[in-house]
Amino acid sequence: MNIRDYINQKKRELLSGRITSDAFQSFFIKNAKEFQKLLTYYECAIMEVEAKFNILNQEFSLSREYSPIETIKSRLKTMDSLMEKVERYKVPLSVKSIEENIEDIAGIRVICGFPEDIYTVANCFIQQDDVTLIDCKDYIKKPKPNGYRSLHLIISVPIYLEHEKRDMKVEVQLRTIAMDFWASLEHKLKYKKELPEELNDRLVAELLECANIGADLDERMQHIRRQLSGTRPDTPDIIRESDKK
Ligand code: GTP
Ligand code: MG
Repeated sequence: MNIRDYINQKKRELLSGRITSDAFQSFFIKNAKEFQKLLTYYECAIMEVEAKFNILNQEFSLSREYSPIETIKSRLKTMDSLMEKVERYKVPLSVKSIEENIEDIAGIRVICGFPEDIYTVANCFIQQDDVTLIDCKDYIKKPKPNGYRSLHLIISVPIYLEHEKRDMKVEVQLRTIAMDFWASLEHKLKYKKELPEELNDRLVAELLECANIGADLDERMQHIRRQLSGTRPDTPDIIRESDKK
């Protein structure tokens, strides 16, 4: 994301009356360079974390004869979504406080084949010397009321710059293909605000049922995999409290 382009786009929106507040405008104009630098650091952190998962996947493919990770996706939070969050959480408008308070500017999504792979991969990742676990939300063990499942980690990793080492926060979401399939569709429904209430409620209930079917499918496929490979259930005790630093 180029901050200059973003400022120009916002100026156009301001002139056309589509946005009313110019507080963000002046913030960006004043801090464009510093903010651009911060976003670049987050991009570097994404590269570091992606490399870590790619390396783990390569190694697992050698030792286990299959790759636990199907796909890795990454994204830098869009400026609009970042500003929406800054406003929602009443984060003071400074580059430093945005960095301190917003933990998902850099995001990585790791899609695994089976639920138990999620914990295996996550534990290997957070045990690495330079990865610090800041927070963990296990929406697989405890799904959200709407049926959402994923393992969320907020971690920090160092990036090495010309003259300094800088710890950057990254949000890592780990889920199975079935969980990802469900979340993508549910995400779309969230933004369909014009749906009549009755239809919306029905779809929400149906999505919850689909989430449970997805979880059941994940369990059954995992059971088949275990029988094929002759392995015993190996559900690592998810992220241990002692791993949090
Ligand atoms: P925010 O980060 O402020 O949104 O709230 P939070 O910190 O409580 O977030 P949480 O860790 O629960 O979720 C963060 C991210 O997970 C979201 O930005 C989504 O990508 C994803 N997520 C969480 N809940 C849902 C959900 O119900 N449906 C879908 N599709 N995605 C979700
Ligand atoms: Mg969050």
